[in-house]
Amino acid sequence: MTDVTIISGSTLGSAEYVAEHLAGIIEQQGHTANVLHGPELEELTLTGVWLIVSSTHGAGDLPDNLQPLFEQIKEKDASLVDVKYGAIGIGSSEYDTFCGAIDTIDREMIGHRAIRIGSMIKIDITQHEIPEDPAEEWVKTWIALL
Ligand SMILES: Cc1cc2nc3c(=O)[nH]c(=O)nc-3n(C[C@H](O)[C@H](O)[C@H](O)COP(=O)(O)O)c2cc1C
Repeated sequence: MTDVTIISGSTLGSAEYVAEHLAGIIEQQGHTANVLHGPELEELTLTGVWLIVSSTHGAGDLPDNLQPLFEQIKEKDASLVDVKYGAIGIGSSEYDTFCGAIDTIDREMIGHRAIRIGSMIKIDITQHEIPEDPAEEWVKTWIALL
């Protein structure tokens, strides 16, 4: 059994819904899941397994509620050496900067020595009206890697 901390970054709510949905799937698989929407660094334990679900806003930018966390990680030069993580991006291919936020997050996590489990998924809302569906399929494979 693994404790998964699900971190969502969202402006309009889609990534939050996906995060909540995935918590249910992860729990059905016999693990525990704790969902945090746009947490600050001090709310997180810098160990264990994180699942980051983030949409993209602006021009490839992190959602407002996730910017403080990644600024704090940078400012404090936090060591994420004991963190393993999965990454889910949600965006629209109508933008040149498709899913830019999850790419930035992935770079920052690796730069602070976290280890990604599995490949990241980028969900295109122009192809998937219900982003929960591809996210659910992906998380079932991801959870098996833990
Ligand atoms: C003002 C605005 C800017 C956006 N910029 C991007 C972008 O740069 N790249 C991208 O992939 N999607 C972009 N999107 C699409 C959002 O990521 C997409 O609508 C997503 O589902 C929103 O998720 P949320 O409800 O969790 O905020 C943008 C949407 C809006 C409204």
